[in-house]
Parts: sequence; structure tokens; C-alpha cells
Amino acid sequence: MMNSVVIERPGALTLEKRDIPQPARGEVRVKVRYASICGSDVHIWHGHNPFARYPRVIGHEFFGVIDAVGEAVDASRLGERVAVDPVVSCGHCYPCSVGRPNVCSELQVIGVHRDGGFSQYALAPAANAYTLPESIPDTLASLVEPFTIAANITAFLQPMANDIALIYGAGPMGLTAIQVLKGVYGVQQVIVVDRLPERLALATQSGADRVLDNSERPLAEQLDGIQPTLIIDAACHPAILAEAVALASPAARIGLLGFSGDPCTLTQQSLTSKELSLFTSRLNSKRFPQVISWMEQGLIHPEKLVTHTFALSDVEQAMTLFEKQPRSCCKVILKVD
Ligand code: NAI
Ligand code: MN
Ligand code: ZN
Repeated sequence: MMNSVVIERPGALTLEKRDIPQPARGEVRVKVRYASICGSDVHIWHGHNPFARYPRVIGHEFFGVIDAVGEAVDASRLGERVAVDPVVSCGHCYPCSVGRPNVCSELQVIGVHRDGGFSQYALAPAANAYTLPESIPDTLASLVEPFTIAANITAFLQPMANDIALIYGAGPMGLTAIQVLKGVYGVQQVIVVDRLPERLALATQSGADRVLDNSERPLAEQLDGIQPTLIIDAACHPAILAEAVALASPAARIGLLGFSGDPCTLTQQSLTSKELSLFTSRLNSKRFPQVISWMEQGLIHPEKLVTHTFALSDVEQAMTLFEKQPRSCCKVILKVD
């Protein structure tokens, strides 16, 4: 038997004893060592994730060792240290055929649509289990996944050294974006806006050149005419897009990560007069190798996001802290093994 964190139905989180699953054809079984908590795990717990099915073992950011393989998987993979890409795609629909498996028409996300990694064992398609170099420590390996979100959106935005970047939000998503803009793309000016000074301090640690607190003074006033050429909304309040469009330089690119169902109001003119480009990005399209290589080269620093570590058995306490204390808590690691 194994311990798994199960959301039985919205609002009901339990630590449950379950049978250790057997890998099907093409799958591996991962003995999970570390996992990390994401906002979407909290949303599934509270019933606010439109994609979740219940009961569900949550967790889509996890790392471990392959301890069993299904039919048609090379047994030489046993013992490999792997980070698991939670995006499971069909491989033959239109989005899959154009390299966008993250929006596959039959998309399944491990930890959302199927059982995930807050568990002593988890199953995944063998192709989703990416071997890690020894230079990436066990404790940080589950953070490959959140960095793939930044890898995916920046692939659309094509940052340049001479961009003036503006990032809304210094939560995990904003921090990964800062690190990728600075460490990978060498963007010279990265400005970050948040309402919490503690989060802005993390932004500075992750490499932000300038941090702005918009809790009292409007952002436009503080920017004082500076027109960002690249904007990422990693705060995701629906009111942000219109402000970003108004502040943006002509020819700027704007990246959106939010999933709000509330409308946001924009005019065509506000976009077209400056010929702005809007990109949206969901999860990642096979970006694990890229992020693993960035970590290996020391271009990004996942340890800068981590504020807490808990044992799997303390998952409810860990998720409550993560949800309620954004000033003191950023990324939380669960020690599973
Ligand atoms: P978080 O809640 O930890 O961080 C958001 C930050 O934005 C907080 O520090 C908050 O103080 C700040 N903020 C909120 N409203 C603001 C405003 N009006 N102006 C300035 N700052 C503001 O969340 P996390 O984990 O960083 O995720 C951010 C967003 O990204 C969430 O909405 C999440 O749903 C979305 N997301 C999207 C993904 C995708 O693939 N598209 C993947 C993961 C997250
Ligand atoms: Mn996540
Ligand atoms: Zn597909």
C-alpha cells in the first residue's frame, strides 16, 4: 500500500492508503521523492478548477525514481531519476500535429485529469519522464515544471536584450519569468510590479532590476512615461490586460497566463493603433529538456523560490500555509519519500 493525497470531492482533502498502481503498456511507475505545491492544487481542493475530476490524487510538480516499467518500455530505465511532464497528449490531433500538445484536443494533465504526484508512487507515460543530470538535486527537481511555464510563454514572446520588460505579479509564475528573462535571454531591464513588498523582495532576489508596489500608487504614475516593450501578466487579474495595453510601447508583445472566466474590456483601437501582439500560454509544449538544460547550466535558480519544506503527511498544513500566507510563503516542497 502507499500514502496518497486525495481530494475526494471539492473541500475534502485526505491522506489515503491506496494500492500501489501497476504501470500499463508504455508507462513507467515513479517512486516519488519530492513534489511541490502549486496554486492549481489548492484550486482543485476547493473545487475551483474547471478541469478537475474527483476523486483525484493531486500534484503535477513531482520528481522521483523509476521503479517499475510497463510493457514496451525499456527495462534499462529502472532506477532513472526523473522529472515528470504532467502534459499527456494524444499525438495525432491538430494541435499535437503542429507541436502544441499542451492544448491537445484530448489533453490530460497528471494531477488534474488523472492521478498525480502527491503520492508515494505515480504513473506516467514513459515519454513524459525526463532523466535528470546529477547536478540537479532531488530537493529542487520538482521545480522543473513551474519553469516550463516561463519557458513556454517566453518562446512566444522572443525576449531581446534591449527589451524593457514588465512583469505583473511576483508569485512563483512571475519569479520564474524574471529568472528566465534575465538568466536565459539577458534582458537588461526587468521591472516587476506586485502589491506585496515581501513578494517584491523575492523578485529582487530573482534578478528584477526594478520593483514597483502598486498597492497605493497607480503603476502608470510610477512608470512615468516608460513604455514596456514586453509585458507578462503573471498576476492574472482580469483588469490587468487593459492597463498593460495602455502602458505598452508601440510594437510591444504581451503574454497572458490567466484563466479567469470574467470578461476584460478592450477596444480594438487600443491594440491596433500600437500594433500590439498578444500571446497566451498554457502549461508547456515539451519544454522539460530546455528547462533541465537551463538548470544544469546554472542560468536559472529554483532554490530562490523555495520558502518551506513539509513532509507529505503534513500536506494540509502545507497547503493552508501556501494559500493563506503569500507574504511569508512562496514555493513549498513536499518530502514524499
Ligand atoms: P500567486 O497568487 O502566488 O502570485 C500572484 C501574484 O500577483 C501575488 O504575489 C499577488 O500579490 C500579485 N498580484 C495580484 N494582483 C495584482 C495586481 N493587480 N497588480 C500587481 N500584482 C498583483 O500565483 P502564481 O502561482 O504565481 O500564479 C499566477 C497566475 O498564473 C495564476 O492566476 C495562475 O492561475 C496562473 N498560472 C497559469 C499557468 C499557465 O500555464 N497559463 C500555469 C500556472 C499558473
Ligand atoms: Mn504548477
Ligand atoms: Zn492531441
